[in-house]
Amino acid sequence: MHRVRFTPSGLEVDAPRGTTVLDAAIAAGLPIARSCGAEGVCAKCAVCVVEGGEHLSPEAADETRIKRRNRVDAVLRLACRARIHGDVTVTASYW
Ligand code: FES
Repeated sequence: MHRVRFTPSGLEVDAPRGTTVLDAAIAAGLPIARSCGAEGVCAKCAVCVVEGGEHLSPEAADETRIKRRNRVDAVLRLACRARIHGDVTVTASYW
């Protein structure tokens, strides 16, 4: 299990390896935009990685393409695509 922290809410959850950041946020009870239902279309689930970015799955070509198409800042990660492989802290403006 890996510790996932959500700032500035202060909420934390333990997530099994391979869990998406999206599913971890939902498990924490946080609202997270996902109008495409995690199909990799909307890019509304973009979050900022505060710490532990090296503990997320590397950004794949499809994630990069989705972000570009939706004009999402390149430094953000799509929560429905980023999988947890270690402790990580993420933030969203609405948390
Ligand atoms: S929920 Fe739509 S791209 Fe992540």
